[in-house]
Amino acid sequence: MLPQDELKQRAGVYAADFVTGGAPIGLGTGSTVSWLIDELARRVSQGLQLEIVPTSAQTAALAAAAGITVRSLDEIDRLSLTIDGADEIDPAGALIKGGGGALLQEKIVASASGELIIIADGSKLVKQLGKFPLPVEVITFGWHQTRDRILDTGFCVEARLRQKEGRNFVTDHGHFILDCYCGAIQDPSRVNTVMHLIPGVVETGLFINMATRAIIGYPDGKIEEIEFRKEQVVIR
Ligand code: 5RP
Repeated sequence: MLPQDELKQRAGVYAADFVTGGAPIGLGTGSTVSWLIDELARRVSQGLQLEIVPTSAQTAALAAAAGITVRSLDEIDRLSLTIDGADEIDPAGALIKGGGGALLQEKIVASASGELIIIADGSKLVKQLGKFPLPVEVITFGWHQTRDRILDTGFCVEARLRQKEGRNFVTDHGHFILDCYCGAIQDPSRVNTVMHLIPGVVETGLFINMATRAIIGYPDGKIEEIEFRKEQVVIR
């Protein structure tokens, strides 16, 4: 049985084969992605031509320190590929993300990408999203009010202001995060839509219809590739 960090490493290294170089790729945030960055840095030192668009200041710093060229999303029309981690993955490929607090930039980069590959260890696969508290990024002004309106929806029983090292956690974009305890989320799309209607909510950690593939590392050393079908989104 391999330790969880090694599963993340194996998934990250495996995903590096999807990076062919040339066109820039989006690069996610978190411990699994940091293994991918290590592997990409190794390949860059062997001649891979690579530019990345980071999903956080942390990833930008890691990539730059590893000798990978970092580009801004504003310099690019469209990304063919982004590779990122996740906190939960359901059978349809819907995700909870934002455990690392980078959900806003991660979602913008993912939505600019043709393909979104998720790398994770097997513990992230769930039948239904919601055991992991749903991160919701909110404006700092009036955050108590925003929290109360989130609770009014009835989708979650508690919404905790995220703390880090004894202080309120502040995102790269100057916002707070409310970690929302929802229990099993029956209709992720509805929760995402309703949350977005609340003044003060900037983004939710629900990534629906975005992931195209997952690369999963298991304790017995196996790696599984799961493909997800993207639905045509109809807005009524
Ligand atoms: C950051 C994220 C991460 O991708 C997610 O938290 C998974 O992280 P890790 O690879 O460390 O388990 O969404 O906002």
